[in-house]
Amino acid sequence: MNIKDMLMSDETIFRDEQVFNPNYLPDTLLYRDTEVQTLVSLLRPGLRGGKPHNTLVIGPPGTGKTTTVHFLFSEIAKASDRMATVHINCKLSNTKFAVISEIHKALFGHRPPETGVPYTRVYTKIMTHLERKDMSLVVALDDIDYLLEQKYANDIMYDILRAYEQFPKARTGVIAMLSREDFKAVLATKLYSVFMPQEVSFAPYSLQEVYEILLARSKAGFFPGVISPELVEHVASLTAAHGDLRVGITLLSSSGILAESNARRFITREDIDTAYEKKARFVALREKTAALLPLERAILRELARDPDVRSGPLRERMGDAANKKSFSQAMAKLESYGLIDSSTIVVGRGRSRIFTLTFPAEDVLAVLPDAVTR
Ligand SMILES: Nc1ncnc2c1ncn2[C@@H]1O[C@H](COP(=O)(O)OP(=O)(O)OP(=O)(O)O)[C@@H](O)[C@H]1O
Ligand SMILES: [Mg+2]
Repeated sequence: MNIKDMLMSDETIFRDEQVFNPNYLPDTLLYRDTEVQTLVSLLRPGLRGGKPHNTLVIGPPGTGKTTTVHFLFSEIAKASDRMATVHINCKLSNTKFAVISEIHKALFGHRPPETGVPYTRVYTKIMTHLERKDMSLVVALDDIDYLLEQKYANDIMYDILRAYEQFPKARTGVIAMLSREDFKAVLATKLYSVFMPQEVSFAPYSLQEVYEILLARSKAGFFPGVISPELVEHVASLTAAHGDLRVGITLLSSSGILAESNARRFITREDIDTAYEKKARFVALREKTAALLPLERAILRELARDPDVRSGPLRERMGDAANKKSFSQAMAKLESYGLIDSSTIVVGRGRSRIFTLTFPAEDVLAVLPDAVTR
């Protein structure tokens, strides 16, 4: 087949490629009934003239937190017009204006203009609307760790949760969503004055659950016969080792693409193993490193090459790219993203900081292949 024929060919093993998209919302949410019920009971007061409870949804990456909250919000929208729900991805929207503008969009269908409209006016418009319509508001701050990096985190929380001080009939609640256990303390310290949440924790899925979820996903995404149940089991066991369902979903789609590129109508075990080595096992690391600046990438790479390096020499190796301030900011960001851990050791009569990567050095080198800036 020539390239044109290949590009135009309708032959595909994918029934629906969207099914493997990171933002795809599955038709049925499996194994999260208990969590959904707890969340419903925490939000329900908001449907009945009261205030929704503040909630912290916590659990490791890829355990369905985002999916569950999306599910719940779409059910709420179908069931009632007395509660407005807004889902905010704090990785993308982490300033006061970005957050308020997402809320505006959820209520009025569009964002406020970026320029010329003061924050307070948008805020007042939102709260007045809620009062007038007698609606409650639930804001889900997803991946709130990215918001906590910003100095406005407390202001944002305050503005949402203490709206009633200025708008007595405004009934508002926040669902904070977090995958990192170590950030719970940061959350409690930074936001303690306004946010004291009920906790709903999401445990990793069992191997059997991972298998059932991936089987359902492959039935929705592939034509029949493309992948055998035994191979889905293989995908599930590779996935369960990471605890992150995204590994399995990436594995399914990349091994499908491999099979297609070899002009096969079915996936083989080798496709899966190749996809795993090349791509799927790096899913979490790739996601975390995507938002890094060149200096941060360079530091991470140098740490992967030389794990014993101390902070002084590490900074020197970054050359002109790093002064004292930018270096320590970069280290703080890497630590807050969960890419490194730091500890202080005693050397002679002084102290020195050492850093350890939280991912295997070889994986870091594989996802950050760019040259170190020296
Ligand atoms: N119970 C489930 N049923 C079907 N699919 C699920 C389920 N839980 C998770 N998934 C799928 O797994 C993937 C990861 O789920 P999700 O994004 O909700 O995880 P998360 O807990 O929010 O992870 P993170 O902490 O990294 O944000 C998504 O593609 C989602 O569709
Ligand atoms: Mg999520």
